[in-house]
Amino acid sequence: MDNKATFRVGSNIAFIKYWGVADPALNLPLNNSISMTLAAAHTTTTVRWDSEGRLNEDEFTIDDVRFTRERADRLVRHLNRLRRVAGVEIRAQVVSRNNFPMASGIASSASGFAALTVAGCAALGLQLNNTELSALARQGSGSASRSLFGGFVEWERGLDHRSSVARQLYPPDYWPLMDIVAVVSGAEKQVSSEGGHQIAATSPLLAGRLSSLDFALPDVRQALAERNLARLGPVLEQDALAMHAVMMTSTPSLLYWQPGTLEVLQAVRQWRTAGLPVYFTIDAGPNVHLICEARDAAAVQAKLQTLASVQSVIVSPPGPGPERLATHLF
Ligand code: DP6
Repeated sequence: MDNKATFRVGSNIAFIKYWGVADPALNLPLNNSISMTLAAAHTTTTVRWDSEGRLNEDEFTIDDVRFTRERADRLVRHLNRLRRVAGVEIRAQVVSRNNFPMASGIASSASGFAALTVAGCAALGLQLNNTELSALARQGSGSASRSLFGGFVEWERGLDHRSSVARQLYPPDYWPLMDIVAVVSGAEKQVSSEGGHQIAATSPLLAGRLSSLDFALPDVRQALAERNLARLGPVLEQDALAMHAVMMTSTPSLLYWQPGTLEVLQAVRQWRTAGLPVYFTIDAGPNVHLICEARDAAAVQAKLQTLASVQSVIVSPPGPGPERLATHLF
């Protein structure tokens, strides 16, 4: 058995968000979600399984920081799932690197758990297809299920472990959209999405958002089929705002926005009125993702540079699914 493997996996930005969990044990979501996998924001992970039995516990080094046992708990629980599938007890050494700042409003849990899943399974010699890997990644982090595929992806809510998986709607080169992330704060977020999913049901607005998806999901699918940003943009903006309304009205209330968030939202609407086709979406953090077509990306970036609260910008076209690398991180 080749007990070491390295993969690079892109993060993703959701057009229709995953927010709220139906089955916390299996991590089944309340709703389908649709995303674009990102080429320019990715995690590279090397997993080596310790078949000689030298390690007493799993070891994780992420972005050059060795994780304490407490901090690694969620990752160890994920490796336990891989061990269960393979029927082994051995420990692993894991080194992982993000090419973007963690907690920047780009989902490092999506690319991180997807990369841990694919590299961990490959290093164990497990022959799983991307659909089976998507189900496994989902148990680590919901949004990770979508990073198993490149391009434009839908995660089917599903009824059980096997059916709650993502699939590719269109490959990366289908539509040159851009995700331009306006970083307005690099601070670590106060509340993890993991905790947020569990309190979504305390919001009186949750039912309203979920029923709006009866229209929003088909609309996004149709907009993608037509490559129609004028159709896609308003729906993705509304769903981001609906998710944040749910977050803000949960108990406890989750308020991820910072003053810079609002500065970018107001500016996007002005630019659009002035004729620039660009729309916003926001994950569980303060930073704003601007979605536009590739031909407008330079104009959007130039505009962003005029805003006082924008600290940095990350620009990404659609990206591929997981890629196996011949060079390991250790
Ligand atoms: C707001 O699946 O990333 O980005 O891994 O438990 O933190 P945890 O949750 P995750 O939730 C992502 C939520 C979101 C919306 C989305 O990406 O669909």
